[in-house]
Amino acid sequence: MTTPKPRVAIYPGSFDPLTSGHVDIIERGSRIFDQIIVSILSNVEKTPLFSEKERIEIIRDVFKGRGNVQVETFHGLLVDYAQQKQASVIVRGLRAVSDFEYEFQMALMNRHLAPGIETVFMMPAEQYTYISSRLIKEVFMLGGEITGLVPPLVEQKLRAKQKAKKK
Ligand code: PNS
Repeated sequence: MTTPKPRVAIYPGSFDPLTSGHVDIIERGSRIFDQIIVSILSNVEKTPLFSEKERIEIIRDVFKGRGNVQVETFHGLLVDYAQQKQASVIVRGLRAVSDFEYEFQMALMNRHLAPGIETVFMMPAEQYTYISSRLIKEVFMLGGEITGLVPPLVEQKLRAKQKAKKK
């Protein structure tokens, strides 16, 4: 009998910064797939607050000790990266109907480019359905409370950024 090939999933995104919603999806994914690769890719429509290096460090720290969660970056097409990693699945979180159109377009474009790769949508826990990295940054910068909506390390890093900006 041959050993089945490990099922590798890519969880791509900007993660600028990582939110509790992302953490929830990564945990769910890591229970379903043999390996989940959290991939920081560039979104041409966004200018990040955190550098790629900072984002990698944060996610690696939050998931340290979790053997089947890997964190990497890639510059280029997501499907090229997935093929390079021999991943058969792309995981994306779906929070609300408003996410659907964008996600549907991306999933079908990725399927057009690489028919062998499936996009799997996962829902985060209800308490995270309204969180986005964009809102976190906005609320934090305007003095709002974000505790619990991001991992403590992210809150710490946001405070450090704010402090550095004020100097
Ligand atoms: O967290 P985001 O910003 O919604 O993630 C979007 C991301 C990074 C997954 C998307 O922009 C992407 O896949 N970028 C890599 C380049 C690519 O393959 N673009 C075509 C997507 S159909």
